[in-house]
Amino acid sequence: MMVLDGKIASAAVKQELLEQTQMITQSGNRAPHLVAILVGTNGASETYVASKVKNCEEIGFQSTLVRFENTVAESILLDSIHAFNNDPNVDGILVQLPLPKHISEQKIIEAIDPSKDVDGFHPSSAGKLVQGLPSFIPATPFGIMLMLEYFDIPTKGKHAVVIGRSNIVGRPMSILLSSNIPRGNCTVTICHSHTPNLKEICLQADILIAALGKPEFVKADMVKDGAVVIDVGITRVDDPTAKKGFRIKGDVAYAEVAPKTSAITPVPGGVGLMTIAGLLKNTLQAYKMRIG
Ligand code: GUN
Repeated sequence: MMVLDGKIASAAVKQELLEQTQMITQSGNRAPHLVAILVGTNGASETYVASKVKNCEEIGFQSTLVRFENTVAESILLDSIHAFNNDPNVDGILVQLPLPKHISEQKIIEAIDPSKDVDGFHPSSAGKLVQGLPSFIPATPFGIMLMLEYFDIPTKGKHAVVIGRSNIVGRPMSILLSSNIPRGNCTVTICHSHTPNLKEICLQADILIAALGKPEFVKADMVKDGAVVIDVGITRVDDPTAKKGFRIKGDVAYAEVAPKTSAITPVPGGVGLMTIAGLLKNTLQAYKMRIG
């Protein structure tokens, strides 16, 4: 069994991005610039955004973190996005989700200029992805594709089962794996909360992607011997014995599932790190489209 270590794979992607950024700045151009917008004080969102900003710094990108109170009016958030859309020194804009209930996530996503949509959540980006056109790929599925590439996991002709149909992970993941691209060409089944016989379908998976957000949902009796298992879950579960009072759990019961697999991602230290690598790659792509 091979552990698909996100630290190693993301470090390789980041090294490549660092070198490209150095070449850009050494030739007198400005660095790529990512703006991250955070609303409220959700603990997990704070951690993710802080990590995105830190990773930008590590590879020489400029980053700006903009914070709003939980009570911010939707119109204020929209004004801020429009200002960054019009700022020629900004290449990528992301608004960390989830947003408070009084704000329409869809309106916010659609307010971001598609040329700066480094999260790949805009319907224009999603539509291009479906049609196989160049586009920003949502960071998590993009990161998983980079991981499959880094560890040279064969995909052609395999049966991939994706549990979860979110716009952020499950749906774009299923499109990528079924596309005629490197690390694609799978036959894909998407499972969700209304799928009967989920266990039987999972047992047919050569590649199983768990992206439903339920801690340790995937048990050993749902996994075929020798399958590749990709765990997208990152749920905080209360644990008074842990230093922070919680523990991060994936969607896969790792201890019992790992011995059955040929390869598996750990949580933490797996897909989460690749998500950031995907975001950084999208930001450099947005920069190149802008600066030429
Ligand atoms: N919330 C959970 N995942 C993501 C992500 O990839 N991007 C943003 N902006 N918010 C998220």
